[in-house]
Amino acid sequence: MKNKVVNEREYAFKVSAAGRVNIIGEHIDYCGGKVFPAALSLKNTVYIRPNGTNKINIGWTTLDTTVSLDIDKLGEYRNLDYGNYQAGSLYMWQSAGHKIVGCDMIQDCTVPFGSGLSSSAAIEVSTIAAMCAITDTPVDNVKIAIAARRAESEYIGVNCGIMDQYASACGRAGHAILLDCATLDAEYVPIDTGDCSLVIINCKKPHNLVESKYNERREETDAALEILRGVTGIKNLAELDGKTLDAHASLLSPVLYKRTKHVADECARVAAAEQAMKSGDMVSLGNILDASHESLKSLYEVTGSELDALAAAAQSHPACLGSRMTGAGFGGCTVSLVKTAAVADFEKYVLERYKKATGYTAEVYRATIGDGITITPIGK
Ligand code: GLA
Repeated sequence: MKNKVVNEREYAFKVSAAGRVNIIGEHIDYCGGKVFPAALSLKNTVYIRPNGTNKINIGWTTLDTTVSLDIDKLGEYRNLDYGNYQAGSLYMWQSAGHKIVGCDMIQDCTVPFGSGLSSSAAIEVSTIAAMCAITDTPVDNVKIAIAARRAESEYIGVNCGIMDQYASACGRAGHAILLDCATLDAEYVPIDTGDCSLVIINCKKPHNLVESKYNERREETDAALEILRGVTGIKNLAELDGKTLDAHASLLSPVLYKRTKHVADECARVAAAEQAMKSGDMVSLGNILDASHESLKSLYEVTGSELDALAAAAQSHPACLGSRMTGAGFGGCTVSLVKTAAVADFEKYVLERYKKATGYTAEVYRATIGDGITITPIGK
């Protein structure tokens, strides 16, 4: 279906929140590690106006359906095919003591669904921010991110970390966020990749099992922490360095060892990537991306043959300095560091090679690094 055109002037506010790409630091946010995501210009936009009732009426630019939620029953919409993310986000916002009013909203999402670029975080965050706009609630981006994450884990059922919702809410154009997921301290680092560009490509493998596999990884890291906490005194798995892990390796099953090794190594890679980015050392950054993919493939086991084929195709191009999967994995996108002058040739080459290897037609996204939440009042 062709996207419906929104008559902006019928609404009071236009509120957006971003999708995200994670440059490095995968599957360590829920272990209390530091991650390095950036908000994308791909986003979810909510057009909203109060309607003076106790109903939240939701429409979409991409769907013919509409959904009406009762503001006093927001906890009861978990099983909706459409509108459950919005209901869950507003329910968590309401449960945190914030004001919810009846309204009409149209949702317009340019983050491709199932791409691993966090369309769900963009929807959750923008929906809460839109409610803030019509209730005169001061916009606290971090509080919104926290409520949105709760919606994803407690309402939708994906026991995720804070990275996606934080990047979606708090992103800044041209910057990556070095986010400490244990403390929520954040440093904005300019994305200065010199004569290179970040290229995002979707492997287009139909997503399945993402949620159950994701939750399984999370349980594994929780189990490893439980075992290691007593002997090492750590509070988060990400506090463990490689040496300490190896000293206690015999306490872990082979699977838990592999998962924990990924976590320790990936934390070290984030620190190295921060230095590489700050000093403009793109060769090192590229090598770190390659090493991250390899670890997600063989230790954390979240890539799958399609993402592996896509990363391998990218890595084999002479103008590519490094490539890795980004996001939860099990499908979705890779992010590659490529000499800007050769990007067109790189994209053509990777798509052809990947198609030959898997039969799937991958898709390149032309996105820039954008802002998190933006709120624009619409003048009558
Ligand atoms: C998903 C989750 C995030 C994070 C990544 C993996 O995107 O929502 O919290 O765990 O996977 O790094």
